[in-house]
Amino acid sequence: MPGVVHYEVIQRVAMLTIDNPPVNALGDGIWEAIDAAVARAGADSEADAIVLKGAGNTFVAGADIHLFSKLTTSELSMERSRRTHAMLRRLEDSAKPLVAAIHGHALGAGMELALACHYRVATTDASVGQPEVLLGIIPGAGGTQRLLRLCGPDLALRMCTDGKPLSAPRALEAGILDAIASGDLAQDASAFALARAAAHETRRTRDIPIPPSASIAGADACRAVREKIGNAPGNAAACAAVDAIEAALTLPFDDGSVRERELFAERVVSVESKALRHMFFAEREAAKTPGLPKETPVIDIRRAAVVGAGTMGGGIAMAYAAAGIPVLLKDVDEEAVERGMASVRRNYESAVARGRLTPDAAARLLTLITPATSYDGFDTVDIVVEAVFEDMKLKQQAFAEVARVTRPECVLASNTSTLDVDQFARASGRPGQVVGHHFFSPANVMKLVEVVRGKQTSPSVLATSVRLARRLGKIPVVVGNCFGFVANRMLAYYLREAHLLLEEGASVEQIDGIMTAFGMPVGPFGMQDIAGIDVGARIRQYVASLGRPHAEGPQSEIPDRLFEMGRFGQKTSAGWYRYEPGSRRGIADPLIHELAERAAQKRGITRRTIGDDEVLGRVTTALANEGMNVLDQGFALRPGDIDVVYCHGFGFPRWRGGPMFFAETLGLGTVLARVEEYQARFGDHWEPAPLLQKYVAEGRRLFDTD
Ligand code: COA
Repeated sequence: MPGVVHYEVIQRVAMLTIDNPPVNALGDGIWEAIDAAVARAGADSEADAIVLKGAGNTFVAGADIHLFSKLTTSELSMERSRRTHAMLRRLEDSAKPLVAAIHGHALGAGMELALACHYRVATTDASVGQPEVLLGIIPGAGGTQRLLRLCGPDLALRMCTDGKPLSAPRALEAGILDAIASGDLAQDASAFALARAAAHETRRTRDIPIPPSASIAGADACRAVREKIGNAPGNAAACAAVDAIEAALTLPFDDGSVRERELFAERVVSVESKALRHMFFAEREAAKTPGLPKETPVIDIRRAAVVGAGTMGGGIAMAYAAAGIPVLLKDVDEEAVERGMASVRRNYESAVARGRLTPDAAARLLTLITPATSYDGFDTVDIVVEAVFEDMKLKQQAFAEVARVTRPECVLASNTSTLDVDQFARASGRPGQVVGHHFFSPANVMKLVEVVRGKQTSPSVLATSVRLARRLGKIPVVVGNCFGFVANRMLAYYLREAHLLLEEGASVEQIDGIMTAFGMPVGPFGMQDIAGIDVGARIRQYVASLGRPHAEGPQSEIPDRLFEMGRFGQKTSAGWYRYEPGSRRGIADPLIHELAERAAQKRGITRRTIGDDEVLGRVTTALANEGMNVLDQGFALRPGDIDVVYCHGFGFPRWRGGPMFFAETLGLGTVLARVEEYQARFGDHWEPAPLLQKYVAEGRRLFDTD
């Protein structure tokens, strides 16, 4: 039965097993059940010691994140946290040794539960951590107070502010774990517990003294971490974690715990935390496709091939290699494929230089990528990813060719970023096997993969694509086959508004500055300089050749002027900015101002001073309005999918929850009012999305968070 704590006594050890699939999250009832089971073991004359473990694949992956949305006020969360603290204190007061037996993960409240046990024994592949900061909160069950008593302030600060887990061997070295199991975990933990019982030893973490030297060093470390993280709104949880650890260094355990509760209570009701929790679930939801049953057969991908050894092709091959899948990397001739392989080698060398890979690991990965100039061996692969130049004819030709040289069950994927996947399907003559796998550059690093479902993509190919993307360590989002899919379609509207704002009087630096202050890693102009102004221009030319506009309504002419001038961005040392040789720091260029003046004159616009609020309002409203159209037309399955795409594709700040969640935090009514205002001021390309109007009229919300 799920959601229980099993109790049995095995050779004088009370074995308590938390059983709450899938990850033994601590939800309503489970805390109480652990409390009751430990009390029962304490009173059980058959048991001399207690082991607490998790059923299934893991110990405990934290508090049930769904519960946080029930903590609608600081008072409620203070009260809940107070009860949890009291319960953990009762566990710690157990007269019989209490040992946490950790396999899989001990994260968040799972880690705090383990910290309140007297000892911790883990499997060697387990990991422990306090990832709460990634959800915009801090540990709220004593983690900030107990952890540093075991491992000292430096490591506790790091773990609570970056949220990254620690491997079991590292945790043992740091004093967080007491032993690593050499055989069966439950047996080793039991033996450990009985030995402590025989020695009449229990150790309460809360009683471990903090040496004065650690307090002094800790104060310095807190100051240094505060300086490093800064106080931007997206860092509020990390700052709160530092405050809580500082309280642990300066106050007695109980007072420090009260401070932790207060800080937790402030964070859990914050918009940032709601946004981050929304992203956590949206990322997992995006991998689920309604109508695609769990039992849909998937193709086992053992070998792969990539056609096109350019930047994208090389990056995709590296992503496959990282997942242990051997991959052929093909291009038209020796020179082209060698260029691709050289770039792959450079990437590995740089990873080794930065300490991210050992030389051995890099060499092993490289052996998984085999250069090719012919289709030899394609009859043995389970998937081909086409990554040739973004040109319909070229891609159709590639699909026709690979369909001839592969087995009928081979998946045929295209890395197109904009083009019609159904046309590739027709060219292949095997439409059911064709799907889009839109990776983002650099493909070996960026997490997002838009899985583009064509008209005839088979359920099995779709399910295989989602499963495979997760195996590659990516976040798959299933999207419909419209021009630009979700990511680039929305980007077109975002960029158009940035360009029009420039013509109307804002500057490149102003707009980029506002967007980076908002939390984007780079503004719209800096981003184009990185991606290449030529890329966008060629796409516009292709769309124009089909007689279609790129995005409805007026388009600034400036990007095309830059393209004609050969200003492609960083790669030509000039684009929206100028670049000194070898430098990636953009320098404002008066030429852009002149181009903007000229473009404004042509459109009969008098340039004006534009306020920061208008800039932010227009670009984010353009995203939200188009997002509602994408949703309405079924190209995204859920609003959360759009958020996942835009956060992972273009760096929209997670702590704002993506463009759709951000729209909801403003209020859909406010967003609609803005669209209507812009329509009145700037024309009909600002047409309210019908779905936005419908939601506002019906008082509906996009998400059911508070
Ligand atoms: N509360 C509620 N649900 C949780 C959860 C939690 N703390 N942790 C994981 N889940 C759910 C996921 O939503 C997913 O549900 P689904 O199958 O319905 O989509 C399921 O457990 C499996 O999680 P998933 O992330 O898909 O599995 P994984 O094997 O890739 O990763 C973890 C496992 C534990 C590493 C990962 O889920 C994780 O990091 N969890 C959050 C840990 C955390 O932040 N804890 C602190 C909370 S205070």
